[in-house]
Amino acid sequence: MEITVRPISHGLGAAVTGVDLTKTLDDAQIASIRKAWLDHVVLVFPGQSLKPEELIRFGRIFGDLDDHRALPFYRHPEWPEIFLITNRQIGGKSSTTKDTGRSWHSDHSFTTHPSMITMLHCQEIPPAGGTTLFTNMYKAYETLSPGLKSILDNLEAVHSLGYHMSWSKYFRNRDPAQMEKMKTLSPPVAQPVVRVHPETNRKALYVSEAQTSNFVGMTPDESQGLLNFLFKHSVQPEFTYRHNWTVNDLVMWDNRCSMHLAPADYSHDQPRHMHRVTVLGKPCGRFLNEEELALSAN
Ligand code: SIN
Repeated sequence: MEITVRPISHGLGAAVTGVDLTKTLDDAQIASIRKAWLDHVVLVFPGQSLKPEELIRFGRIFGDLDDHRALPFYRHPEWPEIFLITNRQIGGKSSTTKDTGRSWHSDHSFTTHPSMITMLHCQEIPPAGGTTLFTNMYKAYETLSPGLKSILDNLEAVHSLGYHMSWSKYFRNRDPAQMEKMKTLSPPVAQPVVRVHPETNRKALYVSEAQTSNFVGMTPDESQGLLNFLFKHSVQPEFTYRHNWTVNDLVMWDNRCSMHLAPADYSHDQPRHMHRVTVLGKPCGRFLNEEELALSAN
């Protein structure tokens, strides 16, 4: 079987066929997948019926997996490497991850160890909707004017889970004690506004509507105008791909140069059940000092 890579959108994304991820992959197959992932940012592998341990094994090919200690309440009961994104009950209780990812973001940018790769495996999907959108943050950066690029190249921005919790309606019904714990585990961090991809050396914009509250050294009010421009600029349709899920699709993406969004385009009357693993990359970002923290109002 030969691996075939077919682009699926102008903005980003490719479908990969001719590989069975339940099998041990040889070096040539791994090299083809890695190249396709660096070239296309988002890869879709249709028809991969993966058990949890097979998903974990595939993820480990690319690096160490996150055990989700920053978000400890949402782990699979038996497999801590698997984060459950589901509207099914977990342990007899209503799931709190059913509305995960409703705003554009890059996974775990609110930590100093953001996710390099996310892999999402579809177990169940409603008959209509339940899609995921992706956008290409290389293109978002490359299409800015030289003047704005040179300003942004030297800035950092504050990313914070607490900030996301403070404004998103999807956190309102979650357990306050759990939210407090997660805020304590992840204090606000400073991230570069422009991230140089360590493997392609290309620059990508690295701010998100979900988690970026302000530029470091500026107040949220002072930052808002430019940040709002960047959020809107980043998600123009020509930079994006919308994935319509089929059960047993595996989608993997590069968080260093993309953002994603799970729109509320389906009914929770029908199950949507996903297994997610994230591969840790190199550390990125730093904790804020007292002065920066005070200015950010986080
Ligand atoms: C996420 O990882 O943010 C959620 C993606 C999805 O459920 O489609």
